[in-house]
Amino acid sequence: MCAMLMLQQDDIDYFNLGQVENPRYWGRLGGKPNFKDAVVIDLGCGHGSLCVDIALSGARRVIGLDLNMRLIDFANENLRRNYPQFADTIEFRFQNLSEAPESDIDYFVSKDTFEHVIGLEQVLAEMKKRLKVGGRVYAGFGPLWNSPFGDHGRTRMLRPWGHALFPERFLVNWHNRFDSQKVTSIHDLGLNALPLAEYLRLFRSCGMAIIFLQVNASKRPVSRLFSLISQVPFLTEYFSHNLYCILEKQSKP
Ligand SMILES: C[S@@+](CC[C@H](N)C(=O)[O-])C[C@H]1O[C@@H](n2cnc3c(N)ncnc32)[C@H](O)[C@@H]1O
Repeated sequence: MCAMLMLQQDDIDYFNLGQVENPRYWGRLGGKPNFKDAVVIDLGCGHGSLCVDIALSGARRVIGLDLNMRLIDFANENLRRNYPQFADTIEFRFQNLSEAPESDIDYFVSKDTFEHVIGLEQVLAEMKKRLKVGGRVYAGFGPLWNSPFGDHGRTRMLRPWGHALFPERFLVNWHNRFDSQKVTSIHDLGLNALPLAEYLRLFRSCGMAIIFLQVNASKRPVSRLFSLISQVPFLTEYFSHNLYCILEKQSKP
């Protein structure tokens, strides 16, 4: 038996967790769009559960892109074994969007990925280029860098906002004290470390219309408290933990 093709239990668990999270993702974006016969790209598809969800909703073609080969291998093998009915509908690829041949896309979706994307401005430009007129980007992501756990625990500061108080050089040294996998930047930890204000700037200047934008999208009481505190201007960055938005391409470039 080939070890490469084994589906590991923790990956299966993560895929199943995605199936629990997907309805919440759509809910925070105001509901799932009508995917009937749509062509969709999931940027940062991970284990692939959002792609399966979209295929189950009647999409004609779903392409999951990710830069983690291990996850793409899992997603393809899981597709082959457990969703053979979508063999001609879904494709998972280890590929940069800039190298994907597709155009005339109806929807880009991206769940919990934008805070990991290095070069988000270029990625948004690629999305716009590939969308058909009227096509949309559905993106929801967090925790944002300046929020209590915005480092995803990767700097090893292990204190709410601990990472947000120190310069990158310090955080890199701190991380390297505790981790055998040495890094030279926050980017090496798989995080772009963008503040909320920079995401807002990128969305406003990307050439697509902002159809929907919600910060702190969650019904949890702590999130509502965050929204209240974030009204205080100099606290906005630190009390904004996620961002959900819909962008629309309204005209040809
Ligand atoms: C936290 S995971 C989220 C995966 C999945 N969307 C989910 O919700 O479970 C973020 C994923 O984004 C991928 N990623 C980061 N930058 C990317 C890029 N520029 N293009 C495609 N995938 C990217 C990472 O490899 C990682 O698998």
